Amino acid sequence: MSVSCRVLVLISGNGSNLQAIIDGCDDNLQAEVIGVISNKPDAYGLIRAHQSEIDTSCVIAHKGETRVEYDARLKVAIDRYQPDLIVLAGFMRILSDEFVQGFEGKMINIHPSLLPKYTGLHTHQRAIDAKDEEHGVSVHFVTPELDSGPVILQAKVPVYEEDTADTLALRVHEQEHAIYPLVVKWYSQNRLAMTNGKAVLDGVELDAAGYAID
Ligand code: GAR
Repeated sequence: MSVSCRVLVLISGNGSNLQAIIDGCDDNLQAEVIGVISNKPDAYGLIRAHQSEIDTSCVIAHKGETRVEYDARLKVAIDRYQPDLIVLAGFMRILSDEFVQGFEGKMINIHPSLLPKYTGLHTHQRAIDAKDEEHGVSVHFVTPELDSGPVILQAKVPVYEEDTADTLALRVHEQEHAIYPLVVKWYSQNRLAMTNGKAVLDGVELDAAGYAID
């Protein structure tokens, strides 16, 4: 059976979302992780990829290299895989506008907050400091502005008084592993697209919080 959606995953670290997507693709014959690119040579996600016999590449930043120069090399590495979908799964680099525009509508990211809240780093601690009662995770299409592309799906978790950034992160991670493979599946089934800057699922434009399941 030919695979319809070639999924390329970009990581920087542990790769637990990569693992969830690999496992999800095993159950979803319409998608396959055909490669993993890391900007860190010691990312544990590379070991996960090897264990699943998935091809890997490292694109490590050179000293003094500009963002645009790095992104040009990253683009060459990506194009080698001819992916249908590029999945940022804890890929901790800011990407240049030109790079992002080149992959518009076919690159998604997972961010550990209920966007538009808490773009950037330290999202769990920021939710605790703000005494938020709920926190969560968002999957969104990548657009040039950091963590600001149209949201596809969010999952919420409660924040408890005794939470630390670590306990909250664990709760959020559990949700990440449930929703990211689902979004990859939607994309591979041609149900999901970015049209006129909006996320569209099954022909319906999603609102700012993405697809809502009650
Ligand atoms: C995840 O929590 C993901 O939401 C976050 O990095 C972690 C990667 O974990 N991404 C960002 O913060 C992007 N702004 P993983 O390597 O175990 O998948």
